[in-house]
Amino acid sequence: MRRWIARAFGFVLLACIAAAAFFFWPAGPETVAASAAQPAGAALVARGEYLAKAADCVACHTAPGGQKFAGGLAFRLPFGTLYSPNITPDPDTGIGAWTNAEFVRALHHGIGRNGEDLYPAFPYTAYAQLSTDDALAIRAWLATLRPVRAPVPANDLTFPFSQRYLLRAWKLLFLPTASPPHDASKGEAWNRGAYLVEALGHCGECHTPRNFMFGLNQSKKFAGAEQEGWLAYNLTSDPDHGLGGWSDTQIEQYISTGHADGRGPASGPMAEAVENSLRYLSPEDIHAVVTWLRDVPAQPDGPPAVQARSPILQTGLATGELGSRLFVQACAGCHLPNGNGRQSRWAALLGSHTAGDPSGTNLVQVLTHGTQVQTSQGLAFMHPFTGAYTDTELAALANYTMGQFGHQPGNITPDQIRKQRHADAR
Ligand code: HEC
Ligand code: HEC
Ligand code: HEC
Repeated sequence: MRRWIARAFGFVLLACIAAAAFFFWPAGPETVAASAAQPAGAALVARGEYLAKAADCVACHTAPGGQKFAGGLAFRLPFGTLYSPNITPDPDTGIGAWTNAEFVRALHHGIGRNGEDLYPAFPYTAYAQLSTDDALAIRAWLATLRPVRAPVPANDLTFPFSQRYLLRAWKLLFLPTASPPHDASKGEAWNRGAYLVEALGHCGECHTPRNFMFGLNQSKKFAGAEQEGWLAYNLTSDPDHGLGGWSDTQIEQYISTGHADGRGPASGPMAEAVENSLRYLSPEDIHAVVTWLRDVPAQPDGPPAVQARSPILQTGLATGELGSRLFVQACAGCHLPNGNGRQSRWAALLGSHTAGDPSGTNLVQVLTHGTQVQTSQGLAFMHPFTGAYTDTELAALANYTMGQFGHQPGNITPDQIRKQRHADAR
């Protein structure tokens, strides 16, 4: 009830600001020109491809099983469903007929071809900080893709959320007007890292909690947030909840390969971010991201990190209890009884934040929806276990995993399994 009132209040406020903003908000596309430093021809296209990967455009503009960049991915929001558009160069259903200026305006201001305001599920609050050169390079690469004729379903949003003009007010509050932080005294890697994380990688879209108006709560920057059923952990320098206890090498390994020794694998949406985007970054850029992350002020939020020093509660499999028996049957074939992973290091679970989170959010998500990541050694894959096991069995498996590899007593109930089992996964 309190949340409902807060929301209603939020929207009355939004409507008032919208009315005021309507009169002085200019919307025409600016003329855009690349700087003298912009490469041309094949070099420009290659640069655009690298940037589009760093910005992970493919993640949201590809429907499951659909053609890349042809759109149609459903975003299930609390007030209805929004579909991502086709951004292939098809002139009718894609963006082939758009001018460069219209394209840059979409990225910088969240405005569509006909001047309509776009929903921030499109992370233009991050892309607003892209240089015009980089936005144009991305366009140049997108223009070389094969056009796909693919109309996208109409959005299904309830009133008043269906009113795009309300977003003008939202943008006044949440669209950054400046470029990412720049501080000459911090050195080149730090500044490049700020650009990669804030403008391109949009890490905050998942890792920063939102306020009641769905804006990123910058006072809790990178403190961790839940989205679509997955918890994106605290990335701040806090040693107990964030990355403070990780070595530089562990963070570099994790984001560039999807696994870190002693920290477990990246699953779910993070595995996708690694697969589509982060594994393509150059070692210098990966280093830059880590340099910048190291400096994010500590926030003591979210589940505690698994301390490398804490002892494993028990390695024996002779306890005879349901969880340990099932683990040998169903999991040890890939993870090994001691969690070290057989053959593939992506199956090494020791120290995994997911195994150590007492809420079990991602742990249960992995069991009920599966996870996979494309690696340099092929696909590392775990199928969902919903077909073969009951809620009680999966709860026992989750609690056993938590005790063994997260060093936490597990309190996952069959009811939690049931709820997450039936929740929609994207
Ligand atoms: C996190 C998801 C997400 C990512 C990442 C993303 N987009 Fe989108 N994008 C969307 C959604 C959702 C919309 C539709 C918004 C709406 O209808 O209001 C959209 C809209 C657009 C539009 C407007 C198209 C039209 O027909 O109105 C363009 C252009 C676009 N995106 C380009 C890009 C590019 C280029 C990238 C990478 C640099 C990118 N997007 C990354 C989700 C995303
Ligand atoms: C689409 C959402 C999403 C985006 C975008 C995203 N992350 Fe994540 N991230 C997650 C989720 C979910 C997890 C938890 C994964 C798991 O359970 O294995 C995670 C985990 C992590 C972890 C491990 C933290 C821990 O304590 O285990 C690191 C490091 C990380 N992300 C860094 C980044 C960086 C850097 C970026 C931007 C370049 C980024 N993430 C972008 C969703 C996201
Ligand atoms: C077919 C091999 C296979 C089987 C069987 C398997 N897993 Fe996995 N599991 C993996 C791989 C590979 C990953 C990493 C995938 C990724 O990074 O997306 C993983 C990831 C996980 C994670 C995520 C850790 C994290 O930090 O995000 C957990 C927890 C997990 N498995 C537990 C289990 C349990 C419990 C079982 C038995 C019910 C099981 N697995 C069965 C291969 C397997």
